[in-house]
Order: sequence, then structure tokens, then C-alpha cells
Amino acid sequence: MIRSLLRSTASRSFVCNYSSKAVPLTAETYSSKVSRNPSFKKLDETDIKHFQTILNDGNGLITDADDLLFYNEDWMRKYRGQSQLVLKPKSTEQVSSIIKYCNEQKLAVVPQGGNTGLVGGSNPVFDEIIISLSGLNKIRAFDEVSGILKCDAGLILENADNFLAEKGYIFPLDLGAKGSCHVGGNVATNAGGLRLLRYGSLHGSVLGLEAVLPDGTIYNSMESLRKDNTGYDLKQLFIGSEGTIGIITGVSILCPSRPQAFSVALLGVSSYEAVQKVFVGARKELSEILSAFEFMDRNSQVLAGQHLKLDHPIESDQYPFYILIETSGSNKEHDDEKLETFLANSMEEGLVDDGIIAQDETQLKSLWSWRESIPESSTMNGGVYKYDVSLPLKDLYGLVEAVNVKLQEAGIVGFDDPTKPVVEAIGYGHVGDGNLHLNVCVREYSKEIEKVLEPFVYEWIQSKNGSISAEHGLGFQKKNYIGYTKNDVEIKLMKELKKHYDPNGIMNPYKYI
Ligand code: FAD
Ligand code: MLT
Ligand code: ZN
Repeated sequence: MIRSLLRSTASRSFVCNYSSKAVPLTAETYSSKVSRNPSFKKLDETDIKHFQTILNDGNGLITDADDLLFYNEDWMRKYRGQSQLVLKPKSTEQVSSIIKYCNEQKLAVVPQGGNTGLVGGSNPVFDEIIISLSGLNKIRAFDEVSGILKCDAGLILENADNFLAEKGYIFPLDLGAKGSCHVGGNVATNAGGLRLLRYGSLHGSVLGLEAVLPDGTIYNSMESLRKDNTGYDLKQLFIGSEGTIGIITGVSILCPSRPQAFSVALLGVSSYEAVQKVFVGARKELSEILSAFEFMDRNSQVLAGQHLKLDHPIESDQYPFYILIETSGSNKEHDDEKLETFLANSMEEGLVDDGIIAQDETQLKSLWSWRESIPESSTMNGGVYKYDVSLPLKDLYGLVEAVNVKLQEAGIVGFDDPTKPVVEAIGYGHVGDGNLHLNVCVREYSKEIEKVLEPFVYEWIQSKNGSISAEHGLGFQKKNYIGYTKNDVEIKLMKELKKHYDPNGIMNPYKYI
């Protein structure tokens, strides 16, 4: 039976995850792996005065210890740097002057967007200067005929999408951190998100970029056209470069028309096998209106329920797997009918055990909240070890099972046992993209847990020919593990590129490769 949903909406907006417990310094936690590069200069008064001149009368410099904390720490409260200075330029020219000076002086820097990254890439490791793009946050132009948006890199994703909504367009990327992350940060990480299935990767939708190279040169391809086969496609180098070769200051992106109708269903299924079969069916039956296909395992929903303080919308939370399907198109009646028929058929075939379709906008947001609140729910017991993985669909959930067995064997896991350091390994993600999120939810971060997980997780992924990063990037967390996915030639070419653009290595050091 398909029931209507009576639950109230949980907010979709993003809440920063702060508590008073101090986060250990990244440099100390990982002391065996990293030490400060002695060739980098230490910041002094002359440098600060110089930056004050660039930024006109000192506005845009943060040096106060309390104010620095937000920029030094990451969203998971797992990484903490020791920067003494945040700079907030308001123009591309100011970014250029800052970087040129830093390069000449060998002052290391970390570009930072909304600081929602999940691999420790947006925070310094030692005393790198943080260059926040939050002051560059304007919409530069929008062409209502082509749908091309040109904006500053520091524009918050949700603000970009709200602007586009008024014009009948949609930003071709959506993710749970949209209220905080920047468009430039999205490009720098090549974020995937909840609707990649429909709109594809930023490698396809970004048409041009403006970026400042370490020597202060401003690279500008903002006027790019939809089709342009003249030479190397240079902008691609910056998409997913995580602040290692330059600072993105402007983005030109192709935005699709906003669908007029959205429908969402939440389903309960009894096996991972069924998840795959429902996916195949959804692609076939819902075809061009399918815009998201997400899955969540039982414990991800139990944690989400504890966090949201709500009962699960499907009678019980006893199903091993849940699926969220979104359709979007131009005719609500047609789309709803399609989704209802699909759901009824899937139930008749015994693939879906229970399901619910949102009856209005409030219910639609409420159903999405059971998916979108998982990242925050995962941290609520203390912390989370995150693995963001691409795998062949058939193997996707096998990793979660293997990790839970490993944790059991080590005797360190107990969902309801507060004496155990690990709560549980949960799995969810973008099935439509072959992208699993494995979250090992912990009561504390510790070397003991990390040793059980790594390199085990990376070896498992390699054995299935997967990727150790589907969408979050390498950052600090995975810089030593890139070899599990990329071969020696690929790594050599990457290192050469890095050296070419950033010979002094000042851009986001100790990260990536
Ligand atoms: P930051 O976190 O500030 O920076 C990330 C990296 O990019 C750093 O290496 C930084 O140095 C670099 N960088 C930032 N801005 C620039 C710039 N202008 N120029 C050069 N380098 C720059 N990610 C996904 O892919 N899919 C998801 O579905 C998703 N959901 C999320 C949900 C939640 C609740 C949270 C907390 C995170 C989620 N993320 C997701 C991860 C994160 O939001 C994305 O990686 C996002 O794109 C980061 O943007 P940001 O502006 O916060 O960048
Ligand atoms: C998501 O899909 O929710 C994000 O990639 C973030 C996460 O997994 O924590
Ligand atoms: Zn994701």
C-alpha cells in the first residue's frame, strides 16, 4: 500500500557542527606522516602590514585567536591547523597581489571556500595563511537565453540556486552543504552531489573559469562558449584540483531550466539485491524524469531518527535498506502517476516492501531530510571516519559489511555499548553514480580505530578496481593513498603539473599528492 506522509518538515539548511571539545592539532595527530616544510617562511609583522596595504586599511584580515578557530578547524572536527592569519580579499586583483607576494616570500597558503570539505583539504596543517573567498560573492552576469551563469567563486551555492530559481533555472549541482559551500569550492573539489545522475559532473557543466596562479597571473576563460575545440581545455585542470595549483576566483556555468514538478518517494526494501533491481527498474520506467536515486542502510536511518528526533516515515525502521527516488519534469500529474505506477509494480514484484510518496512540498523536504541529515547524524556520537568510494554496483554494499566484520573481530564496535569506541559502520550514497559513502561513526577519534580501518578499506577498494575518492577528493586524509587508485605514470604526470604551476609548493601543501 502507498501511504501519504503526515510528518513535519525538517530543515534542509546546513548547520555547522560545533561543540566546545578541543580538536587535536592535525600536525600532532599525524606527526609520523608530516613535518613543517622548513623552506616556508614564517609570517611576520612586515607581511601583515603588506597584506593590510593590499586589502586597503586592514579590512579583511583576521588575526584574533577565537575568530581564527572556525577557519582552522574542519566540519568533522577531525583536523585542526595553526594558521595565524585569514585573508578575505574582495577582488580578483587583490587575490593576485596576495598570491604573488606569498610566492615571492615563500609563504604557504590554503584557499578556503565554505569550509565544508570532508577530507581535511580546506584547513591548514601548520601555519599556512588561509585565503578565504567569502568576500568574492557576487553574481556577475546571467544570460536568460543560454542559461549561462557567471559568478564569483565565493558565492554560496544556495544563493546561486535561489537566484536561478527566480529566473526559471536551476544550478546543476545540489548537496546537503548548499547553505555554506561556495560555487568555487564545489568546482575545486569537483563535487558530485544528489543530482549528478540527472545533470552530470561539473567537468561537463562548467564552461569557463577565472583563476589566479601562484605567480599572480590571472587565467581567464570566463567568456567560453558551449563548444570550443581550440587547444587544451585548461579549465579542466582546476576542476577537482583542491586548491593545489591556483585559486579559482570566477566560475561560468551552464544551468538547465528548472523542472516545474518534483516528486519524491521513500521506499523500504529487504536486500541490497533488491536495491539494484529497483534501480534498474527506475531507470527503465521513470526514464527521463528520474533525477535522483539514493540508498541508505538501516543504521543510517536509526542515527538520522535520533538526530532529527522524529519517527521514521515508513512505519518501522526495520528494513535493511531504504531508497529515495526523486523525479523532476514539466508535468506534475504525469510524473506522480509514473512514480505511483512504478512503486505499485515494484511492490507487486516483491522488490519493495513498503513505500511512501510525498504529497506536497513540505512532505517532499521531509523525505529528503532522511537522506540529507545522515552526514550530521554520523558525527553526533563524537566523530566519523569517512570513506567516499566508487565501486562496481554489485560490490557497493560489500565494503560496509566487510568493515563491520573487521570492527567486530577487533572487538571495538557496539551500537548501544558506550564502552566501545566505534558505534557502527553505516552505508548510504548515490547508487545512481556507483558512489558509496561508508561512515564509520565513532565515539572518539583514535589511532587504534584508524589502524583497523586503514589500509584495509583502501585495499578492499583496490581489489574491486574502485576509486578511493568518488567525490570528496584527496585533501589531507587520502594524500598517501592515491596509489590505490592511480598508477605510477598518472601520479608522475600529476606531480609534474603541480611542479610546473607551483614550483615553490606554496599552494595547499601537505595535501593531494
Ligand atoms: P572548502 O571545504 O572550503 O574547500 C574544499 C577544497 O577546495 C580545499 O582543498 C580548498 O583548498 C579548495 N578550495 C575551496 N575554494 C577554492 C577556490 N576558490 N579556489 C581553489 N581552491 C579552493 N560533497 C560532494 O561531492 N557531494 C555531496 O553530496 C556532499 N554533501 C555534503 C554534505 C554535507 C553536510 C557536508 C558537510 C559536506 C558535503 N560534501 C559533499 C563535501 C563538501 O561540501 C564539498 O566538497 C564542497 O564542494 C566543498 O565546498 P566548500 O566551498 O565548502 O570548499
Ligand atoms: C553526501 O552524499 O551526503 C555527502 O557526500 C556527504 C557525506 O557523505 O557525508
Ligand atoms: Zn555524496
